[in-house]
Amino acid sequence: MLSKAIETALNNQVRLEAESSQIYLAMASWAEIKGFEGVANFMYAQSDEEREHSLKLVKYINERGGHAIVSELKGPQTDYKSLKEIFETQLKHEIFVSESINELVRITLEAKDYATHNFLQWYVAEQIEEESTARTILDKLNLIGNDKGGLYLFDNDIVRFIAPDTAK
Ligand code: FEO
Repeated sequence: MLSKAIETALNNQVRLEAESSQIYLAMASWAEIKGFEGVANFMYAQSDEEREHSLKLVKYINERGGHAIVSELKGPQTDYKSLKEIFETQLKHEIFVSESINELVRITLEAKDYATHNFLQWYVAEQIEEESTARTILDKLNLIGNDKGGLYLFDNDIVRFIAPDTAK
């Protein structure tokens, strides 16, 4: 059985993951109308992954006798200046999500909720991967700068960062 404090903290993470899904969906839509098909597909897949992250938490909370709350979400940024801004925003956001997961890990340990602590390890590993991907992509964009040909190749190449289970 989850304590009230852990349940509330997990529900906060449900909302954060759902908001992440909306943020990446908005980025996908922006990239699509700007003609960056590869980036759009990458972000659509990211958005699906975040929805899965949220759903996994919903199921866990309910399975442990809590009540997962589906809450109102903050509206995402819908307009961007450049691909660079998109990926800078993504990296910043993922670092923020990692901090939130780390805080959850900390409070579950403090509360001796070892089951939830163990459940969260999947998220810890996932965050390492997501931050690393965002950094790699951003490094590439920094190399390319404003070179149109480079951005065209980047857009074609980004498909290899889409996790196989989410590739459409
Ligand atoms: Fe589920 Fe990218 O945080």
